[in-house]
Amino acid sequence: MSDLNDKTILLGMTGGIACYKVAELARRLQEEGAAVQCVMTQAATQFLTPVTMQALTGRPVFIDAWDSRTPNNMPHIDLSRQANLIVLAPTSADFMAKVAQGLADDLLSTLVLARNAPLLMAPAMNVQMWQAAATQRNVKTLLADGVKLLGPEAGNQACGETGDGRMLEPQHLLYEIIASLQPKTLMGQRVLITAGPTFEPIDPVRGITSISSGKMGYAIARAAYEAGATVSLISGPTSLSIPYGVAFSKIQTAQQMFNAVMAQIKQTDVFISVAAVSDWRPSKTHDSKIKKTDAYRNNNSLELTQNPDILAAVSALPDRPYCVGFAAETEHVEQYAREKRIRKNLPLLVANDARETMGAESTNLLLVDEAEVKPIGCMSKLKAARFLIQEIAERLTLSRQ
Ligand code: C5P
Repeated sequence: MSDLNDKTILLGMTGGIACYKVAELARRLQEEGAAVQCVMTQAATQFLTPVTMQALTGRPVFIDAWDSRTPNNMPHIDLSRQANLIVLAPTSADFMAKVAQGLADDLLSTLVLARNAPLLMAPAMNVQMWQAAATQRNVKTLLADGVKLLGPEAGNQACGETGDGRMLEPQHLLYEIIASLQPKTLMGQRVLITAGPTFEPIDPVRGITSISSGKMGYAIARAAYEAGATVSLISGPTSLSIPYGVAFSKIQTAQQMFNAVMAQIKQTDVFISVAAVSDWRPSKTHDSKIKKTDAYRNNNSLELTQNPDILAAVSALPDRPYCVGFAAETEHVEQYAREKRIRKNLPLLVANDARETMGAESTNLLLVDEAEVKPIGCMSKLKAARFLIQEIAERLTLSRQ
């Protein structure tokens, strides 16, 4: 995956101990295909040397406004114009104040003032400095000026205190930087997603489940967040890490998933049901492990009870959100998908071949709505998720006209 191919990111570093994490961020940005041009304030060089950043980015680092290495001797213009995005990490309280005021007394503040590219800031400072009335005034000004703030988050701080002011982790900064380049087609929408398998216990060590990995649902959660939505993800057991920026609930059984969905459905604009919900559960869950001899006594059979159909129940609500279903089939994919869409009364159903897609990194989705069947081709699940989110956003707009 190269989400930042052909992008030049100007990485501005100001004075703060979080500089050490930015070395890692520079690596991650390049792994995604970006060229990284580092500019440091004098204070930043107290925490990390320009040598480190030059070695990591493969480009000379700029610090001084009078640096004559640019041909026209105007590094603030040259560097600013090369950038598709300016990311300030870490951003000190002092530097936030400078940008809020429009000061330009060193190379970094001057090129920020001269920018014609979007500006992202990752604040990092002591909790009292973050909460100070002056800093909060500056935050308001910066937001009003169209600056995007990434964090800070709460937690233990290098100074020994605890609270808001920690810089986001490099991986989360990377997600936010990538997200900033995605179209905001679901801004303000509340999206609820189910993902993964469910697990229906037979006894304390056995259960009924499926080979669903949760990858598609988690990718859709990330893509919806990138598109500006407020995202809630309800997941069965998976080995995946919780997607950044998403409210997350972990459940085990279909009934628990049903309850969790129904508890949130009134606050939902779009419901995307990706989970491979078990259609059946054992009628009785044994408290202790069933012995082989007990199984023989029961004629080796397991009595089953049908689980609620979560998607069908949501789709039948009088005030239902926009509902998107999934269908993983092993044969007659298109035909079954068409039938399922009508049976569950859905505006959109997404079908794929279970044998190709379950557990895999890529997928081959087929979008089935009232008007057409649209194949989107084989691609990574994240790419497919972004495509699907755009398709949903377009249909959502049409459905409200
Ligand atoms: O036909 P089937 O029930 O397998 O349809 C699959 C779709 O229905 C998926 O979107 C799945 O998340 C949803 N589903 C559900 N509750 C069930 C079974 C399936 O929400 N009990």
